[in-house]
Amino acid sequence: ERAHRLATVSLRLVGKVSPLRMLASLFSRSQPAPVRLFGLDFPNPIGLAAGMDKCAEFPQSAAALGFGHIEIGTVTPKRQSGNPRPRIFRYPSVNAIVNRMGFNNDGAEVVAAHIAHNYPKGKRPSPLGINLGKAKNTALERAAEDYVASFKILADHADYVAINISSPNTQDLRNLQEAERLDPLLKAICEANDDFASKMECRRVPILLKISPDESFRSLDRILELVYCHGIDGIIATNTTVNRFDPVGEHCTETGGLSGAPLRQRSTEIVRYLSKASEGRLPIIGVGGILDAASAGEKLDAGASLVQLYSGLVYKGPLLARRLARSLAYRGSNWI
Ligand code: FNR
Repeated sequence: ERAHRLATVSLRLVGKVSPLRMLASLFSRSQPAPVRLFGLDFPNPIGLAAGMDKCAEFPQSAAALGFGHIEIGTVTPKRQSGNPRPRIFRYPSVNAIVNRMGFNNDGAEVVAAHIAHNYPKGKRPSPLGINLGKAKNTALERAAEDYVASFKILADHADYVAINISSPNTQDLRNLQEAERLDPLLKAICEANDDFASKMECRRVPILLKISPDESFRSLDRILELVYCHGIDGIIATNTTVNRFDPVGEHCTETGGLSGAPLRQRSTEIVRYLSKASEGRLPIIGVGGILDAASAGEKLDAGASLVQLYSGLVYKGPLLARRLARSLAYRGSNWI
């Protein structure tokens, strides 16, 4: 977590000092490989996954490093400190991370102020997604109130909103993926979105659902039905896993969500399943174990329109986004 803090401080510095920012974008200038999705223009398909910049402290630096979109959060309505430390564990021999952060963040109001200051709408080189979650102390039955409260504060700052119902580190959060709970949750968010659009006389904010890799295909079918029914714009697949896939994952003994290389195959399977089941009609953002051009290409070939990464940045360094965007642009559809 100290390493993460150090990276955050450095990236904030890069964002604040414009010669540094220019230098970063010079190093990370990528070939254009633009994607148009949800009515948004993404300069390339590589995004920064939620969790790295929870409070919008350095989205401008992430854009300067070549990310084609940045997802901040997870944000809850009020500030919360998360689980006791230590809560991030690196397993470098297998390019994996286990985390049990528990949605530590400054709360929606403070994050809105950070965005307005650091990455104001209308002046962004890459789209900004805002990932929303439920507070630790909110009962599952009242979860929708949390998502709607944060949505009302942050909608105006978002290019898209991600509804996170898949973090394993907030007790029972993943139960929101069950149809009986997901249906009213999506209804409440879509109503808030309609209200926002009519009040501001603007278009609705694209809403994406971020799902877990630990759902069965049957459960994915039910989620898809509700996604269609409520007009949800896309799916982010996937969050971290509580499974420890053999033989690699079993090294990662700490409790929490596993990310990085051992997650790659399962998250690709989910992307492929969703893409087939929706006959390629539902936009999917693929995330999990992207550490090089082959793993990014695998997700795109499985049906993702965009990809995101977090653990890859930790193991491969800050120029990874640029390298991936460049190789995807050069190689067209022959990703490997
Ligand atoms: C995450 N991730 C995450 N996801 C999310 O929706 N909200 C969050 O707050 C966090 N926080 C978080 C913290 C840490 C330390 C890690 C490593 C990950 C999950 C992340 O966005 C992504 O879905 C997974 O990490 C899988 O991608 P990678 O890391 O294998 O590229």
